[in-house]
Amino acid sequence: MSVPQHVAIILDGNGRWAKAKGLPRTAGHTAGAKNVETIARDAYDLGIKYLTLYAFSTENWNRPDEEVEALMKLLGSYLKTCKAVAKKNNMRVRVIGDKTRLSDDMQKQIRELEEESAAYDGFDLTFAINYGSRDEIVRGIRKMNKEIMSGDLSVEDITEENFSKYLDTADLPDPDLMIRTSGEQRLSNYLLWQLAYAEFYFTPVPWPDFSKKDLQEAVEAYENRDRRYGKV
Ligand code: FPP
Repeated sequence: MSVPQHVAIILDGNGRWAKAKGLPRTAGHTAGAKNVETIARDAYDLGIKYLTLYAFSTENWNRPDEEVEALMKLLGSYLKTCKAVAKKNNMRVRVIGDKTRLSDDMQKQIRELEEESAAYDGFDLTFAINYGSRDEIVRGIRKMNKEIMSGDLSVEDITEENFSKYLDTADLPDPDLMIRTSGEQRLSNYLLWQLAYAEFYFTPVPWPDFSKKDLQEAVEAYENRDRRYGKV
């Protein structure tokens, strides 16, 4: 039985979780943020090596200002506390997405966190912030094209393998398993290139309630499919 090495999760359902409890949507995001650390620890316990979480999409800017502000505040304060957590748990933390649209303070937090945790190798946690897969691919094409224009790269160098190195996930293996919580069965512009061969697992459980047991069930479903079909 093989545990997936890399699990990517679309954290969905914070709003519906809050609504069902008669709470404001932001209370759902707060509960969702709390669950991030718990699930990262559970993933580690289950033998998963890489965890990549969709925390804020390029489309999320279209939400009401108040909600965007609350999400940015949660992410900002999480990144601050994350430094100590990374050190304690020998955990490398990265952020993928277009960071240029984030506040200067957040960009600084991210730089420090990525630099300070770069040598930790016990577990790999990646947050997708202001992330959209099409945007990432376009940025990758631009970067590659600049090198072609300057003569550092030739058109023949454009291969699948080389192109992967121009994506934000350049140093990460492709995810083996993608989980989406809260019932929707869509990719929502998440890791389109990287998920080409991944198994997909959808659960009705909203993100704030997603537990170790739910993660274990997703891993078991992955293991069963892996055993039945092998990798294609
Ligand atoms: C979807 O819920 C979730 C998000 C928009 C982002 C996820 C953010 C967090 C868990 C909080 C901050 C994260 C970290 C890493 C500290 P939704 O609002 O779309 O739910 P709904 O579909 O039920 O409305």
